[in-house]
Amino acid sequence: MNPTLPASSMCVLVGPPGSGKSTFAAHYPDTWRVSLDFYRGLATDSEADQSGTPVAAEIQALLLDARLARGLNVLIDSTNVFAHIRAGLIARARYWQRPAVAVLFDVPLATAEAQNAGRDRVVPVDVVREHHQLMPGAAQLHQEGFATVHLFSELAAMSAALR
Ligand SMILES: Nc1ncnc2c1ncn2[C@@H]1O[C@H](COP(=O)(O)OP(=O)(O)OP(=O)(O)O)[C@@H](O)[C@H]1O
Ligand SMILES: [Mg+2]
Repeated sequence: MNPTLPASSMCVLVGPPGSGKSTFAAHYPDTWRVSLDFYRGLATDSEADQSGTPVAAEIQALLLDARLARGLNVLIDSTNVFAHIRAGLIARARYWQRPAVAVLFDVPLATAEAQNAGRDRVVPVDVVREHHQLMPGAAQLHQEGFATVHLFSELAAMSAALR
């Protein structure tokens, strides 16, 4: 079950490759989504080409500010497992005085690995493991400044109960 996101908010998806972030983001309007992978693809013709990360990060930052300035919703569909990356995002939401929401993709490592293996763009398994290990807890995300933290495991359980 996808939560209703507050108007004018910044929603940061946090989870390893294969954990279901882009699948979740697809339930919201396309224009809300900013994605490093997507911009890397636009810059280099390959979403996996890390040499495209600097330009992709610049595009993401520009769009984040443009939308937050206008009071439009933003969904950040990148792994966001590094605390310094989240700190940069939180700083932009604070600057524009917009609420920050996190969705933590707290899926077991085996699930992320299996979902990653079963799609077109397969990320190296050691990257999935490293990112999974780096995942913060909900308490840490609150401490960092996220007003609301949704756990994907709880959203999935709610969906299953409603089925
Ligand atoms: N809840 C789910 N149940 C079953 N399969 C799922 C679920 N969520 C995602 N998947 C499948 O898992 C694969 C990975 O999902 P997705 O691309 O959304 O991950 P991601 O977190 O965006 O990964 P990345 O960080 O590499 O972009 C896809 O093939 C998707 O269809
Ligand atoms: Mg994705």
